[in-house]
Amino acid sequence: RAAAVIEEVERNLATPTALLRSIADAMVVEMERGLRGDIHACLKMLISYVDNLPTGDEHGLFYALDLGGTNFRVLRVQLGGREKRVVKQQYEEVSIPPHLMVGTSMELFDFIAAALAQFVDTEGEDFHLPEGRQRELGFTFSFPVNQTSISSGTLIKWTKGFSINGTVGEDVVAELSRAMERQGLDMKVTALVNDTVGTLAGGRYMDNDVVAAVILGTGTNAAYVEHANAIPKWTGLLPRSGNMVINTEWGSFKSDKLPLSEYDKAMDFESLNPGEQIYEKMISGMYLGEIVRRILLKLAHDASLFGDVVPPKLEQPFVLRTPDMSAMHHDSSHDLKILGAKLKDIVGVADTSLEVRYITRHICDIVAERGARLAAAGIYSILKKIGRDKVPSDGSKLPRTAVALDGGLYEHYKKFSSCVDSTLADLLGEEVSSSVVAKLANDGSGIGAALLAASHSQYAETD
Ligand code: BG6
Ligand code: GLC
Repeated sequence: RAAAVIEEVERNLATPTALLRSIADAMVVEMERGLRGDIHACLKMLISYVDNLPTGDEHGLFYALDLGGTNFRVLRVQLGGREKRVVKQQYEEVSIPPHLMVGTSMELFDFIAAALAQFVDTEGEDFHLPEGRQRELGFTFSFPVNQTSISSGTLIKWTKGFSINGTVGEDVVAELSRAMERQGLDMKVTALVNDTVGTLAGGRYMDNDVVAAVILGTGTNAAYVEHANAIPKWTGLLPRSGNMVINTEWGSFKSDKLPLSEYDKAMDFESLNPGEQIYEKMISGMYLGEIVRRILLKLAHDASLFGDVVPPKLEQPFVLRTPDMSAMHHDSSHDLKILGAKLKDIVGVADTSLEVRYITRHICDIVAERGARLAAAGIYSILKKIGRDKVPSDGSKLPRTAVALDGGLYEHYKKFSSCVDSTLADLLGEEVSSSVVAKLANDGSGIGAALLAASHSQYAETD
């Protein structure tokens, strides 16, 4: 009976290349709808107000605060302009107590402002703020925001594990600024950015050919550089650069082409945000382990995978985390010892047979592979959107294209990231893929936000 369930899982989660191509096409259509401002578009294509990416000339002391991944981070950086670039940087990482993710807005912002204030207190003499100046901050806020300017914007909805009453519709910079005031911290937010936009800015600072950034972490999303005249909903002046960074919010992509299984549907139904972030729920780190747990549970029920009794621990949502799934998936020892120990730990079943271990690893493989291949289809769709997916028709040479990637899933889950890379290469074909570099830009979004805070500094004109 196990074989029948496994076969069904393999069938329902399959992502043949032709399907990935049609998913990428559907994503391009949704991107265009989002850029037109169609309210029914599932890709919001948010305007970031970033029309200039870092040049290397940025200088001075800037802070950044990064909220929305697994950890919350604060960073300070002394930028030295073209010659010296990053003179010195320091950061701290604090994990967000889970109760704050579902508490009140004020508690959350007070917590982050307090951590920031403490961090500012430790600023040493290597950092220089000219006399009479206010400290400035780039705020990376990794949720969908309707920007009203480069330094303000209202929260559209919470995603990932956050669900806090009273923040949706509020200006998150105003919320943070009030919390900083309550802490007695004199600091001005000069840039509000999504993590994808921060990663794009940080990526561009390191590599001039970076045109898009993708996060594969707790959640997933992408941002890219669009021609301003290809954004019908943009009613402002045409930026001098002619470009505008777009935050796609691709996590909310939905299509009947997506290989959605009964496990995905049940997980979505029981989630904090049913019906939303469907693509994200098939790909990102918050969910992959949970999908595996649901399949194992089905195998336990229908095929007594773990013996006559279904292990009670396996009934518990989110008990199997993606890092554990990754550890099990990467176990290449002959008796799958690590995997066995994880099953004992997490599911509470000691002495699993080798066959059960192989089945478990196979399930991890199916779920990770589907996520990685879908993510690659997303990257491919962005390259399609900007015409970097094929050899130019005028016979000119293909420009080098770089995509900055970040997030714990891509960084730590090697089988996942290598599957993203190989699928992307496959979709692009040999000739084009040799000019496309997708590379890890670790913690680029912190430095990216600081760089954007610098280029939008209230003192930028004076300098
Ligand atoms: C970090 C970026 O490296 O990756 C963050 O600096 C981003 O801005 C994060 O949100 C996402 O990763 P994870 O795995 O923590 O969700
Ligand atoms: C979620 C958020 C998005 C963010 C992504 C990666 O999809 O909605 O804004 O970029 O996670 O952190």
